[in-house]
Amino acid sequence: MNAAIRAIIRTAVEAGFEAFGVRDGFEGLMDGRFVQLGARDVGGIIQSAGTLLCSARSPEFATDAGQQRALDALARRGLDALVVIGGNGSLAGAHALHSRGFRVVGIASTIDNDVHGADIAVGVDTALNVALEAIDRLRATASSHRRAMLVEVMGRSSGYLALMAGIAGGAEVIVIPEIDTGPDDVAADIRQMYERGKNHAIVVVAEGARSAPVLADRLTNADVGFALRTTTLGHVQRGGTPTVFDRLLGTRLGAAAVDQCKRGASGVLVGQHRGEIVTTPLHEVVTTPRALDPTLLQLARVLAR
Ligand code: F6P
Repeated sequence: MNAAIRAIIRTAVEAGFEAFGVRDGFEGLMDGRFVQLGARDVGGIIQSAGTLLCSARSPEFATDAGQQRALDALARRGLDALVVIGGNGSLAGAHALHSRGFRVVGIASTIDNDVHGADIAVGVDTALNVALEAIDRLRATASSHRRAMLVEVMGRSSGYLALMAGIAGGAEVIVIPEIDTGPDDVAADIRQMYERGKNHAIVVVAEGARSAPVLADRLTNADVGFALRTTTLGHVQRGGTPTVFDRLLGTRLGAAAVDQCKRGASGVLVGQHRGEIVTTPLHEVVTTPRALDPTLLQLARVLAR
């Protein structure tokens, strides 16, 4: 996110705009927590995780009154365009402000990678690399001790992170919400890996599908061959040092968002699609669920052999 913030501020200043950051997300927007930022204020942040501006979940912003408070604060400060960076909740908020007549451009940033209009959201690559490093380490113990490791990764109701980390990490079993996989299926898969003579089994479990500790409990009495151990990666997946890919993506999207503002566009998401930066109406973004490529799961099964 910091790469995007840096690019927004610097390209906006270059274009002759006055640029402000909004502290603490929609919560801060309603309270008018604006801070004027110049090119120098966003120096030295491209390598930092998280966001310089901080963020907050805001139930109040989902209400009419909350959105009106935000519009009032924007008007009081004399602002005429807003770039919103975040996941589906943030982009729904962006769409609401656009529907009320304010100029808004969105950028998808969520490790869940569940935003329609962006093949890959800002932060996904970094989170994947963090999850992957953890899986690589867990495999070393799993192989040495002939164990099955259940690794729970985040992703809310999306299996994207689990599927990609599972494929890249060479997982034997991947459990995602998009595919119905019960404890008996997992047990049978692990057992099969044992019988094939593997000396470990890595099971990547998306939090939206199951809780890994609960799944492990359900497997206690199943004869899977391996001894089981469980790891929940949780918030460790967030906050990794942004990868090259994420820094470049955030930078490109930040600049593209300012470009859209300059052109007078509103109610659009700027996102990367097939390597190009494209725009998608926010209305479409918030009403279209993002589907996972089912062929990738099939591929993961074949590669687990
Ligand atoms: O939406 C991003 C995400 O990291 C999800 O993958 C996860 O379920 C959730 O946020 C965690 O939210 P919180 O930080 O509020 O616990």
